[in-house]
Amino acid sequence: MDASPQQPPLTAQLISHFINRSRSNSSSRWSVLWNSDKSHFLDREGPSPALIDWIESRLKTLKFSPDRRPVALVPGCGIGYDVVMLALHGFDVYGLEISDVAVGIAEANATAEFREPSDYNFGSPTAASLPIECRGSVKFIQGNFFETEWEKEIAIEDFKGFDLIYDYTFLCSLPPDLRKDWASRMCELISPTGVLACLEFPLYKNLKALGPPWGVKGVYWNTLAEGGDGIIHESSIEEDDGNLEGPFRRVDYFKPARSYECGKGTDMFSVWKLRDSRQKNGTENVTSNFVL
Ligand SMILES: C[S@@+](CC[C@H](N)C(=O)[O-])C[C@H]1O[C@@H](n2cnc3c(N)ncnc32)[C@H](O)[C@@H]1O
Repeated sequence: MDASPQQPPLTAQLISHFINRSRSNSSSRWSVLWNSDKSHFLDREGPSPALIDWIESRLKTLKFSPDRRPVALVPGCGIGYDVVMLALHGFDVYGLEISDVAVGIAEANATAEFREPSDYNFGSPTAASLPIECRGSVKFIQGNFFETEWEKEIAIEDFKGFDLIYDYTFLCSLPPDLRKDWASRMCELISPTGVLACLEFPLYKNLKALGPPWGVKGVYWNTLAEGGDGIIHESSIEEDDGNLEGPFRRVDYFKPARSYECGKGTDMFSVWKLRDSRQKNGTENVTSNFVL
């Protein structure tokens, strides 16, 4: 995976690209990366097998209303492989990217995949043979996850939040001091009945080691279940179910049968719902389009 012998390994190059970042300029550093000849660092060459398997295991319980499909968000979607894959499984999907270059690449990739979907989008023959009319749509938006401006581009009447948000290598790409804000934004963006699905990576990496990718072992739990700031130490990781004050409760947690090789066999899949969906404004009469 690493390029030429003269070059430091990709991960070291990535870390040095972000080494002097501040909280405010870390997003623009991603755009600089996409504008450079190093954007191949960010290409996973296909959608997440763990997400495919999880979605396909739930296809029968997804309610597809003729009026409204379930709506998904993939923040920091990069080339947008997961965005396209979810749309091919019936979701209307928004891919959010800070980089306009990434948005252009993602749009071109989506056009090609919709014309002739690659086999890698499907785990089972049943899903691969979903009729074309069952497919959803994709829309890529250039915007900053931590700001609200881009939300104006969500073209859904009476929108109450996303039915599904998928995080893979977004949390680990952020400087640790943004983790609390990441969790707050997830609360704002999820529908009261929605689910946040996370493919937790990298779990093998020491929490003190520099990123991106930043090690996230225990970080999802701390920010989502405990309501912490996500800046934790190996010794303090303890996933205890009592007295939790975080905004989300974890409703599923498992080691996926398939995942990317870079996860070194340690990736975990976690699924979260709002602990108290009534805390959200305007939640009366919200029915779920996505059933676990
Ligand atoms: C490690 S890449 C992950 C790409 C994608 N999730 C994948 O699996 O291939 C992180 C992505 O998040 C984007 N990003 C970083 N900060 C962002 C922000 N504040 N808002 C939106 N996108 C952001 C970067 O441009 C980059 O493409």
